[in-house]
Amino acid sequence: MDISALLKATGHVTLDPGYVNTGACTSAITYIDGDAGVLRYRGYPIAELAEKSNFLEVSYLLIYGALPTQEQYDDFADKVRRHTLLDEDLKRFFDGFPRDAHPMPVLSSAVSALSTFYQDSLDPADPEHVDISTVRLLAKLPTIAAYAYKKTVGQPFLYPDNSLGYVENFLRMTFGLPAEPYEVDPVVAEALDRLFILHADHEQNCSTSTVRLVGSSQANLFASVSAGIHALSGPLHGGANSAVLDMLERIAAEGGDVGHFVERVKNKERGVRLMGFGHRVYKNYDPRAAIVKKSADDVLSRLGKSDQLLDIAKQLEDFALNDDYFIERKLYPNVDFYTGLIYRAMGFPTPMFTVLFAIGRLPGWIAQWREMTADPATKIGRPRQVYTGEQERGFVPISNR
Ligand code: ACO
Repeated sequence: MDISALLKATGHVTLDPGYVNTGACTSAITYIDGDAGVLRYRGYPIAELAEKSNFLEVSYLLIYGALPTQEQYDDFADKVRRHTLLDEDLKRFFDGFPRDAHPMPVLSSAVSALSTFYQDSLDPADPEHVDISTVRLLAKLPTIAAYAYKKTVGQPFLYPDNSLGYVENFLRMTFGLPAEPYEVDPVVAEALDRLFILHADHEQNCSTSTVRLVGSSQANLFASVSAGIHALSGPLHGGANSAVLDMLERIAAEGGDVGHFVERVKNKERGVRLMGFGHRVYKNYDPRAAIVKKSADDVLSRLGKSDQLLDIAKQLEDFALNDDYFIERKLYPNVDFYTGLIYRAMGFPTPMFTVLFAIGRLPGWIAQWREMTADPATKIGRPRQVYTGEQERGFVPISNR
């Protein structure tokens, strides 16, 4: 097929499947230099934020463009704390899902349903509506996520305890039981907060582009984020973190032969990829992966856990980084390669891993949606196509076909 002739015939100038080389917007939120392995939120290097900030502060930074003063931070954190409850009617939604439902579609459905509970504040053009929707989403997503988990294990839902911090509250709602006191492990809370920071934004990735595209029709924030959650669920995007664990478990179950697995990847056996490796933008070590790798060692040792899968992951990385196939294609570990091992050590089951990614990515989705809706230059997202089908033909009645 002569694509350039088709482009010419249809009057289009570009065909860029996967948007490999197409900018869809301007943005002042996140900077990535994929060749140098640099990532900054609003100008601040990711490593510095991961070390010195916390997730709510980073959320504020992404959404409002500057680090908050103490007063701004307290006000923001207080608002988020006061909106963590779910409407009792929304809580009943969870009864309708099967026990073995994957928590990602449950998460997305419940977020979508928020637009039915808050119909008074859905106008993308009204800054007050946008602000209250922002707070509601940030506050309620961890509650929804915890209930999605509770549903799968058949345990009662816990109301939020608003004396706790953002991450601590989420951990208690996830792992706590009504009749038993739950002590949040500070090692777990600190590590999870850091992982949320590392996931908080990543410019125009698949889920963020989805949020923007849906929002470009002036659909409300809840509807846009609900769509973004579905986009995140795929194994080539956020779903990679659970796919990595499945892969490591499979390698372990087959005797731990890392070299044999890498050969299968290189031979491009159907469906076999080195999950957690490669990235559209990073052609160097993903700076988030470097932090997560260090964190995995640290968290596992502080929790007093060892994991054979961590050894397998490190062997895989060593193998791949010294192999021409991966070197030539500039394939390095991405953020998803080591995160699952930390989540597992914290006690999360594999299907919850991508839910954790969604909680982390939420402030980025919100910030990007707000940036887009506030920009007067925004137009509805409406790509064109190059038509390759039949030219006009006459209808043949069914009796003559
Ligand atoms: N394992 C083996 N080979 C790979 C991998 C991998 N993980 N990733 C890319 N390649 C190869 C491709 O087969 C291709 O080789 P070829 O040139 O011989 O055909 C080449 O590298 C380029 O790969 P593309 O798929 O064209 O790269 P693209 O930018 O479209 O895809 C992606 C990026 C989806 C991340 C890809 O690297 C991949 O599938 N990785 C595994 C899934 C994963 O970890 N996803 C998480 C991404 S990070 C995130 O979303 C948070």
